[in-house]
Amino acid sequence: MMRLVLLGPPGAGKGTQAQFLTGRLAIPKISTGEMLRQAADRGTPLGVQAQRYISRGELVPDDLVVSLVEERLQEPDVAAGFLLDGFPRTLNQAETLDEWLASRRQELNAVVDLQVPDDVIVDRLAYRVVCSVCQAPYHLLIRPPRTPGVCDVCGSPLEQRADDPAGLVRERLRVYHERTAPVTDYYRDRGLLVEVDGELPVPQVTDVIVRELTARVLARS
Ligand code: AP5
Repeated sequence: MMRLVLLGPPGAGKGTQAQFLTGRLAIPKISTGEMLRQAADRGTPLGVQAQRYISRGELVPDDLVVSLVEERLQEPDVAAGFLLDGFPRTLNQAETLDEWLASRRQELNAVVDLQVPDDVIVDRLAYRVVCSVCQAPYHLLIRPPRTPGVCDVCGSPLEQRADDPAGLVRERLRVYHERTAPVTDYYRDRGLLVEVDGELPVPQVTDVIVRELTARVLARS
């Protein structure tokens, strides 16, 4: 049973690692960014509201995101564990998650913090394309799709994300440092933080995370 959080700035590789870790650890991922974009694409009231914030590089208000996550956490497939990607990203979200889990006698096993400097991120996101359907991320130079413009996973067309132009990426990084960096300290103080070098090649980052998590689980058993 693993209950995990993936933290890190925009473009740190959370989505990329979530894709591989769900397979290696056999737990479902819960990506708030993906869920919000899907809601926006479907034009639901929540999606329309969220899109206003996403398109400005701002965080979606806590109450909207928290209710989305709480609803998802009650579905049967997450009973045996989950990997949260992109949540929590404010102190209020972290505290609410802790309370929600505690009320069910559950707790997080670890919080993985992917560390990547800002200049590397700006460069990465300039070359990112994502699947228009399953949202799998690619890097046009480092991790290109097998067939140009086509998703390896589901065969759908690839596109640039609307919040990836450089100006918006800088705003997302500013918001990250102001609002989400304190969440890292919150989990460090609770002894849950696992810091990982997100500049290593993708498979090595996955290996380091799996090794660190396995060591933690063994140390506690
Ligand atoms: P979200 O979708 O969560 O975006 P993000 O946190 O900004 O992160 P990204 O998805 O941009 O990057 P990533 O870390 O997943 O990197 P990736 O694997 O793609 O959120 C979007 C918006 O939704 C937010 O701005 C906010 O408005 C809203 N939102 C979401 N959650 C919220 C919440 N909890 N509260 C409030 N608002 C919320 O990789 C990036 C690129 O790098 C790719 O091209 C990839 O191929 C490449 N790459 C990955 N790893 C490596 C590596 N090791 N080496 C080289 N290249 C790599």
